[in-house]
Amino acid sequence: MTMEPNPHNAAAAFDDAPIGLFDSGYGGLTVLREVAALLPEENIVFVGDSARCPYGPRDQRDVDRFVQQICRHLVDVGCKLIVIACNTATAAGLAHAQQAFDVPIVGVVEPGARAAAHTTRNRRVGVIATQGTIDSGVYAAAIKHMDAGMSVFPLATPRFVDIVEHGLRLSADGAAEPSADIAEVFVQPAFEEVARECLAPLATSGIDTLVLGCTHFPLLREVIARVMGPGVTLVSSAEETARDVHEILTRRRAFAQPGNRPVRAFYTTGDDVEEFACFGSRVLDTPMDKVEHLELPPLVHWVDRAERAQEAEGAGTAGVNREGGAA
Ligand code: DGL
Repeated sequence: MTMEPNPHNAAAAFDDAPIGLFDSGYGGLTVLREVAALLPEENIVFVGDSARCPYGPRDQRDVDRFVQQICRHLVDVGCKLIVIACNTATAAGLAHAQQAFDVPIVGVVEPGARAAAHTTRNRRVGVIATQGTIDSGVYAAAIKHMDAGMSVFPLATPRFVDIVEHGLRLSADGAAEPSADIAEVFVQPAFEEVARECLAPLATSGIDTLVLGCTHFPLLREVIARVMGPGVTLVSSAEETARDVHEILTRRRAFAQPGNRPVRAFYTTGDDVEEFACFGSRVLDTPMDKVEHLELPPLVHWVDRAERAQEAEGAGTAGVNREGGAA
């Protein structure tokens, strides 16, 4: 197995189709940043589902449907690989998406779990994530799948998503230098106070590794590190996921043509095109060339399809909110 990029091998085939990534909002851009750094010649399409952000408090069945709907769109625009750059969406919809579509679909939970299992020395690992991700139990299962002797300490920290959204707004309002590292925006006593309160349940856990199990959280890395102290290593799935994408393209000989000038297209499902471009550019640390509003195919089509499939298996989905709203 090689991790070396090999786009210039004379025998290699190439594929200029874009990689698709999506998240409920800006958090997935932390994954895109790593994918773009490792694969700078790849064309990328990113969808931020701002109209329905946050996913964390929603019913898992609704999030599963959003995943089906966005994957359908990304497949329709020709993506060669999809990254579900959201832990909540991965927990709710990765398996279903992999069953429904032919392109490779990568989530962020397994890479995060792998990074944690490879990092810990005392085999005590904490996981912070949204309520939906924690309730699903996917992280504990994935970490124990790597090492059954591991002790996992899951903790829902939904307020961290609010802090990120709030901090990004502050940065846009001029409370921080536009040139400042985005992480610095969050190093504020008020945010640190909230972080200390939220992370208090982990204080006596004895963990030496903490998984940032939400793609929004790498933006809070500095503050979380201050609270947890130097004895706890923070891991996120972004870099590990990018390596997985690289590995898949290597094995499939599906890199973009050498010298390709990459097109990065960004879409938001909300009406917040300008805001999205402004915050997103700060998260990416580079201007977004093109941000557009995206109208997704009507959710009800995919609801019907998913329900038909589940009914065929005798599972049934009584009581599901057909509008896709929060439960
Ligand atoms: N970025 C999402 C995740 O990784 C969380 C934000 C949300 O609640 O929508 O889970």
